[in-house]
Amino acid sequence: MANLQLRRVRKSYDNIEIIRGIDLDLHDEELTVFVGPSGCGKSTLLRMIAGLEEITSGDLFIDGERVNDIPPAKRGLALVFQSYALYPHMTVAENMSFSLKLAGLSKAEREMKVAQAAQILHLESLLTRKPKELSGGQRQRVAIGRAIVRNPKVFLFDEPLSNLDAELRVRMRLELTKLHRQLRATMIYVTHDQVEAMTMADRIVVLNAGVVEQVGTPMELYRNPRNLFVAGFLGSPKMNFLTATVESQNPGNVTVKMADGSRLSVPGQLDISNHSQITIGIRPEHLRLTNTGSLAATVTTVEHLGSESYLHVLTANSEALIVRVSGETAVEADQQVNVEVDSSALHLFDQDGTSLRSR
Ligand SMILES: Nc1ncnc2c1ncn2[C@@H]1O[C@H](COP(=O)(O)OP(=O)(O)OP(=O)(O)O)[C@@H](O)[C@H]1O
Ligand SMILES: [Mg+2]
Repeated sequence: MANLQLRRVRKSYDNIEIIRGIDLDLHDEELTVFVGPSGCGKSTLLRMIAGLEEITSGDLFIDGERVNDIPPAKRGLALVFQSYALYPHMTVAENMSFSLKLAGLSKAEREMKVAQAAQILHLESLLTRKPKELSGGQRQRVAIGRAIVRNPKVFLFDEPLSNLDAELRVRMRLELTKLHRQLRATMIYVTHDQVEAMTMADRIVVLNAGVVEQVGTPMELYRNPRNLFVAGFLGSPKMNFLTATVESQNPGNVTVKMADGSRLSVPGQLDISNHSQITIGIRPEHLRLTNTGSLAATVTTVEHLGSESYLHVLTANSEALIVRVSGETAVEADQQVNVEVDSSALHLFDQDGTSLRSR
């Protein structure tokens, strides 16, 4: 069991506020991902939860108990870093059992726990090796093993995969997701990689400059981003943004005028007055090339990925868009195309960047 609550949590270094009032509920057995750009405060927040950084103000509760003043070792958490920080002179087994030895467990208990962790992580055949005799992925598994043997209430991961090459990252990502299911443990996973966030999380917390922008399941955030920041952060290639004005509103639909003079009819009702400037967001997969598409554009670059292609185009008004095409395409650079917008999939944002659907 481990539920965590953060209430108005703040952190300042020398009068500079890094974490600016965070309220969060993290649920038992869930894998929560903290995601956000570099420097937004993800590691700081995680280290405050771990007890490695003091909380300047606000409260942190673990299973209902306020733990602000409880030292790290007594919080029942285990932290896995980006740099695995294994002891180089110890074997894999010794690395994993070291904290248990410090805690005074008997040799037999230590061996049992190490054997269990080694089995979960497929490290059985490597237990007598030293860290320098392991690959990056194996080292990372040992670092996770060190956390598992302690049977923590919460696993805290700070970018544990960022030192690995692309292929290994993908494999370890899957292994960690499996591990989470197998252990049914509460985990907090920090990353700046939105693909890791989307694929691993039960719940994503999007952080930006020390505040929470939005919390939700990956698909909730993908489908209904609350603002331009979340909309632009999740999804690859990124959501396209175009400027437009609200022209007229009828019951059930809204007509918007794009910067190039073309018009779109958007289903739904908006809480906004006519002539307001808005930003339209549309994901690359919701654009198509058709003869009747309302946006005239020029192709600048075509990226062929085999399974799909990305067309980079410029509208008549010089706004850049990415159109995703399934499979291969014969379209070439400099070609004139018409882009059709799936108006049921549009996101609309007011001038403050707030989604008009969530206002
Ligand atoms: N000990 C410190 N003293 C002063 N400022 C600090 C300290 N630690 C972190 N910061 C600042 O706090 C901000 C948040 O840092 P943090 O390490 O939490 O970012 P992050 O989101 O983990 O970024 P990254 O993705 O690059 O790891 C940064 O601007 C950083 O410079
Ligand atoms: Mg960090």
